[in-house]
Amino acid sequence: MSMFRLDGKIAIVTGGAGYFGKPLSLALAEAGAQVIIASRDVAKCDAYAAKLRAAGWKAEGWALDQGEEASIDAFTAGVVAKYGQIDILVNNAVSREGVKDLEALSKADIENAQLINTTGLFLLTKAVVKVMRVQQSGNIINIGSIQGVVGPNFPVYGDTGMSSPVNYTYDKWGMVGFTKWLANYYGKFNIRANCISPGGYGPGVRGSEGREEFIENYKRLTPLGRFAEDDDIKGPVVFLASPAAAYITGHNLLVDGGWTNW
Ligand SMILES: NC(=O)c1ccc[n+]([C@@H]2O[C@H](COP(=O)([O-])OP(=O)(O)OC[C@H]3O[C@@H](n4cnc5c(N)ncnc54)[C@H](OP(=O)(O)O)[C@@H]3O)[C@@H](O)[C@H]2O)c1
Repeated sequence: MSMFRLDGKIAIVTGGAGYFGKPLSLALAEAGAQVIIASRDVAKCDAYAAKLRAAGWKAEGWALDQGEEASIDAFTAGVVAKYGQIDILVNNAVSREGVKDLEALSKADIENAQLINTTGLFLLTKAVVKVMRVQQSGNIINIGSIQGVVGPNFPVYGDTGMSSPVNYTYDKWGMVGFTKWLANYYGKFNIRANCISPGGYGPGVRGSEGREEFIENYKRLTPLGRFAEDDDIKGPVVFLASPAAAYITGHNLLVDGGWTNW
């Protein structure tokens, strides 16, 4: 089991206090890493980090605006100044502002979403991979989605008014290609890159009035009959971040209860 340990590793989780961000951060901390939970709302990141510290793990909240190059550079430089290394980057943050159906999109919507979900993703990965290249080691895990593996199933939303935004699908398919590009380009520097593509997050939709039809349809179309829960993403991220996955790079690990099997 020592192959699954991350002791001494410095791990960044962007959006690490969000829905999937919390179990991702917790899992890496439980495996022994020093976890840096980063997003715009530093108070939210700090509060979750404090919870992890109270449980005996190593975690800190840091400010990062993935839409601002200066913030990305200051954040990365700050982590290196404090810890001297970056071993794991989990690109989990996502902007949901400006993600809409095609005919509802304005130019500003497209640019606002892209600023975080493409430009910021690239700039942060660039800043971190530079550090990893000098170290001659590193591990990048991109969080994709089932929306980046199959086309949207619009009937699943029924009459709820919910939808699957076109630029989200575009970004998440791009995430898989981005992962393979990183894996192939940086393999020679001992840097691995993998993607995790989760299915819908259960606690995020439960209790949301008006979504009952979607919830039932979604569960019916998932072979395992349910949404993703917190524990579902913990094992996959620890596995991919750890020496247990030392010969795995460019992979897209589906964590979707079988949603994409049909
Ligand atoms: N929820 C699902 O059902 C689902 C399903 C499949 C895949 N996913 C994927 O899982 C990942 C996390 O999704 P989620 O639903 O857990 O997200 P979420 O709870 O909505 O959180 C998104 C996170 O991104 C951060 N963020 C947004 N803009 C940012 C910026 N400019 N700079 C830095 N951080 C920023 C937010 O923090 P601040 O607001 O503090 O910046 C927040 O913590 C995403 O990549 C998503 O595509 C989610």
